[in-house]
Amino acid sequence: MNEALWFLSRATGIASIALLTAVVVLGVVTSGRRRPHGESATVVMAVHRWLSLGMLSFLTVHVATAVVETYVSIDWVSVLVPFTSGYETFWVGLGTLAVDLLVAVSVTSWLRHRISERAWRAVHYATYALWPMALVHGFVLGTASQAGLRAVTAACGVVGVGAVLWRLLSTHADRTRRDAVLGGEWS
Ligand code: HEM
Repeated sequence: MNEALWFLSRATGIASIALLTAVVVLGVVTSGRRRPHGESATVVMAVHRWLSLGMLSFLTVHVATAVVETYVSIDWVSVLVPFTSGYETFWVGLGTLAVDLLVAVSVTSWLRHRISERAWRAVHYATYALWPMALVHGFVLGTASQAGLRAVTAACGVVGVGAVLWRLLSTHADRTRRDAVLGGEWS
């Protein structure tokens, strides 16, 4: 039974980081100047929401099985209070911090129409902190003997960083072009 829980914890950990990365990438490419408009924006936003619900479900199983399985000692308090785990205190703590920020991002998104756009956006930017924390947590705690699983986590890192760089560079390119046009107009 314990071995099954351990495998389930690892499998759902991998599923969580892969889905979290997909949600972040969709969020990154659908914001900023080059975001889709009209019908495709609605579809992309719906996928963004449904994937995050799927991710939260896998993450709940990952955390619950990590606490229940007895190979490592992790108490329920470590699910929300960072750096209290008896096992790998710092690396599990990063996972806990990611969960805390994820709860804040999820709750403010559910309450989006009741809070100011500014407050919602400020909390949503916490994603740029929680994703790398979850990634490092998963990569460091990943089983060294299962390189394939670690490769999935590493690939999530490459895809996520690529999306953020694309967003930053495309915004920069647009700004440069706009400044050139404005510069041209006035000189
Ligand atoms: C957004 C939050 C989190 C994500 C995306 C995540 C993802 C992952 C991933 C990808 C792994 C490596 C799996 C492998 O390669 O075998 C992992 C391992 C692990 N995670 Fe998480 N995790 C998160 C939060 C947490 C939390 C809050 C806890 C505990 C309270 C936790 C406990 C563990 C443990 C104990 C391991 C190592 C597995 C073991 O040795 O049994 N994780 N996690």
